[in-house]
Amino acid sequence: MELIDGKKVAAEMKQEIAAKVAKLKEQGGKTPHLAAVLVGHDGGSETYVAYKIKDCEAVGFKSSLVRFEDDVTEEELLAKVDELNNDDDIDGFIVQLPLPAHINDQKVIEAINPKKDVDGFHPENLGRMVIGMPAFVSATPFGIVELLNRYNVETSGKNCVIVGRSNIVGRPLSILMSQKANNCTVTVAHSRTKNLEELCRSADILVAAIGSPEFVKGNMVKEGAVVVDVGTTRVKSDKTKSGWKLKGDVLFDEVAPRCSFITPVPGGVGPMTRVSLLHNTLLAATNQIY
Ligand code: GUN
Repeated sequence: MELIDGKKVAAEMKQEIAAKVAKLKEQGGKTPHLAAVLVGHDGGSETYVAYKIKDCEAVGFKSSLVRFEDDVTEEELLAKVDELNNDDDIDGFIVQLPLPAHINDQKVIEAINPKKDVDGFHPENLGRMVIGMPAFVSATPFGIVELLNRYNVETSGKNCVIVGRSNIVGRPLSILMSQKANNCTVTVAHSRTKNLEELCRSADILVAAIGSPEFVKGNMVKEGAVVVDVGTTRVKSDKTKSGWKLKGDVLFDEVAPRCSFITPVPGGVGPMTRVSLLHNTLLAATNQIY
């Protein structure tokens, strides 16, 4: 069993991005600039946005944080999106999800200029990705594919089972894995899937993106499979400084001994998601998608 070290690969990618940014600056080009919009004070969202800002600093990007309280109106938020769309200094921006219940997430996402949609959530980017055009690909699916490629995991002709059909992970990942670059035969499983355990056992590559801690047990994994754990459920812990710890969707101790490769939580997919946003921001700043 080989542990897939997402932290190490993400650090390498960060160095590659930092080197490109340094070169851009040397040549008198612009400094990539990412803005993040954060509504309210959800603990998870606060943490993720703080990481995004910190990551920008680490590679030499500019960053801006725009904060609103929970009671911001949809109109106010849409006005800010419009302002960011028209701000020439901002290359890309994200609106951290989830948004409060009185705001329509989809309406906000659709208001983002696709050319600045470094999350890859806009229907135009999703559509472009589906038909293989240059597109901003959302960070987690992009990061997973990059991680498998950098570990030389054979994907061609393999059965890939993805458990979870979210718009930001499972569904876009299913498209990427089925495309010519990866050549997998893909099955997307979800809460209504019949014989889920048996289906999972048929997977050469099993991706757990359910959001249910330790859902995938040892008896659901084929001997020699590659297992990618996308879960990041925050659970209370008195053993960490923050008072929280992350739990994956895979029962690691049972599953790991059966795998050829497995991503740990933390230190697997999470760091790849973070660096993929930087990757997209650099693409935006250098007009490589549109
Ligand atoms: N909430 C959870 N993941 C993400 C993400 O990748 N981007 C945004 N904007 N919100 C999220």
